[in-house]
Amino acid sequence: SQSEPLKVMISGAPASGKGTQCEMIVQKFGLVHISTGDLLRAEVSAGTEIGNKAKEYMNAGHLVPDEIVTAMVKGRLSQKDVKEKGWLLDGYPRSFAQAQSLEEMNIRPDIYITLDVPDEILINRCVGRKLDPLTGKIYHVKYFPPETEEIKARLVTRSDDNEEKVKSRLQTYKQNAEAILSTYFDILHKIDGNRAKDVVFRDVDSLMSEVQKEKESWRGIP
Ligand code: AP5
Repeated sequence: SQSEPLKVMISGAPASGKGTQCEMIVQKFGLVHISTGDLLRAEVSAGTEIGNKAKEYMNAGHLVPDEIVTAMVKGRLSQKDVKEKGWLLDGYPRSFAQAQSLEEMNIRPDIYITLDVPDEILINRCVGRKLDPLTGKIYHVKYFPPETEEIKARLVTRSDDNEEKVKSRLQTYKQNAEAILSTYFDILHKIDGNRAKDVVFRDVDSLMSEVQKEKESWRGIP
């Protein structure tokens, strides 16, 4: 029988590898990837009202006000593809209030994954990060260089990826992490993110596959 699709949250400090793991998760599990960072960056580059409001907060490494981000996520979660394919929330909730908003709407994941990476590694990952504006793919000048000269030439750097701003983002993350975890402690899985991305994905994959199997077997119980 067709079981209900997976619902997953992924969290972790800036540059812990959320976006990188999400690329691999989407490829294997076909979930709808909802990254609030990506959604906000798209609003900023399109120059929308939301984007104009969000820009200063993002550049300072602060959280964008809850009501802006929550409205955005609500809108995305209510679309049809999410119901059919399941969802993968990346970068949301990021505050206790955001977690509460989801609880009030009865939106709860099957699994809450958090990627664990030491602070000093995070800075290097951020300052070397490059994005392909065409495909959305995430690169790193040292760890994951672009495949071709053509791709290399079009890569861009995020405006919040310098050392000073990363430190501020990390501080914001640490201030909020504990309060969010309390909402999901019963479905929390900590994964060591300080390993090669394929090795990290092996853990993510087996965890998700196991939960998917469990969901299918519940479905089979009359
Ligand atoms: P967001 O875009 O969510 O940024 P972030 O949380 O700081 O996370 P990153 O995107 O920096 O990192 P990542 O964990 O995805 O790492 P990645 O895979 O790219 O948010 C940006 C801003 O938007 C926030 O500061 C805030 O202002 C606002 N915002 C977003 N959500 C919000 C919300 N809910 N409420 C309010 N405001 C919100 O990897 C990083 C680098 O490391 C890459 O170069 C990658 O190639 C490399 N790498 C990845 N994995 C590995 C590995 N295993 N080994 C070596 N290198 C690796």
